[in-house]
Amino acid sequence: MSRIIVITSGKGGVGKTTTAINLGAALKYFGEDVLVVDANLSTPNIGVYLGAPEVPISLNHVLMKKAKLHEAIYEHDSGIKILPSSLSIKNIKKTKLGKIKALREELLNYAEYVVVDSSAGLGKESTTVLEIADEVIVVTNPELPAITDALRAIKISSQLKKPIRGVLVTKVKGKKTEMDSDSVKEMLEEPIIGRIPHDEAVEEARVLKHPVVHTHPKSKAARAYKEIAAKLLGVKYDSRKDREKFIERFLKIFKSKKF
Ligand SMILES: Nc1ncnc2c1ncn2[C@@H]1O[C@H](COP(=O)(O)OP(=O)(O)OP(=O)(O)O)[C@@H](O)[C@H]1O
Ligand SMILES: [Mg+2]
Repeated sequence: MSRIIVITSGKGGVGKTTTAINLGAALKYFGEDVLVVDANLSTPNIGVYLGAPEVPISLNHVLMKKAKLHEAIYEHDSGIKILPSSLSIKNIKKTKLGKIKALREELLNYAEYVVVDSSAGLGKESTTVLEIADEVIVVTNPELPAITDALRAIKISSQLKKPIRGVLVTKVKGKKTEMDSDSVKEMLEEPIIGRIPHDEAVEEARVLKHPVVHTHPKSKAARAYKEIAAKLLGVKYDSRKDREKFIERFLKIFKSKKF
């Protein structure tokens, strides 16, 4: 049965859009049909991150009843479907996100997994998006300010009776000042669905306008996203076996050097 997973956070810039795109790509890697929706209407990023900054027909047009849903869905080269939002201030001002609730059933027709990116914070925009969720993934970084805000996002999801599938800790650098999984779990009282390392490959993929799962499939971040997708699907995935082999690494270094 198709389901909608909303990616939310309390604090901004923690890695929601990166997660929506890469969780989508990782689910696709395991053969699932995926639609990634940009429901961050005030600061949309999905199109920008995937090389389609302004599309002729967007989610805004659908919400304004100026277009049908199928007209605003695009297929990205990575194989995931995307429903981008408009960057135009005029369109942003005219759009009422509340109308997205009426689209829920129709969205479910487009893919097995509908992954929805949302805006940061606890304002009306992010809470409205939570209303279409079957389950919620809360993204945080391993620092106290982000975790405190994540707690508030969890409380709002609970008030709306939306089950938390898990907390995703991203941009983990492994520093002593960061909070470990046990402490995060204890503070948030929710399971940790995964930890995504801080990885240069993520930034490189953003510049290439693709999910890191595609551009750098063996990178630490890509493997961590695949681990989470495997967990959601209940399939086996051994990220250690998916590592770059020594000879591949060696050849890469060799190729990059000019002799
Ligand atoms: N695992 C990672 N390693 C390195 N950089 C990352 C990682 N995840 C995200 N980033 C970078 O962090 C920045 C913020 O990420 P992203 O846009 O996904 O956050 P966000 O929560 O969607 O932000 P906003 O609240 O503004 O919508 C981006 O430059 C992104 O490339
Ligand atoms: Mg974002």
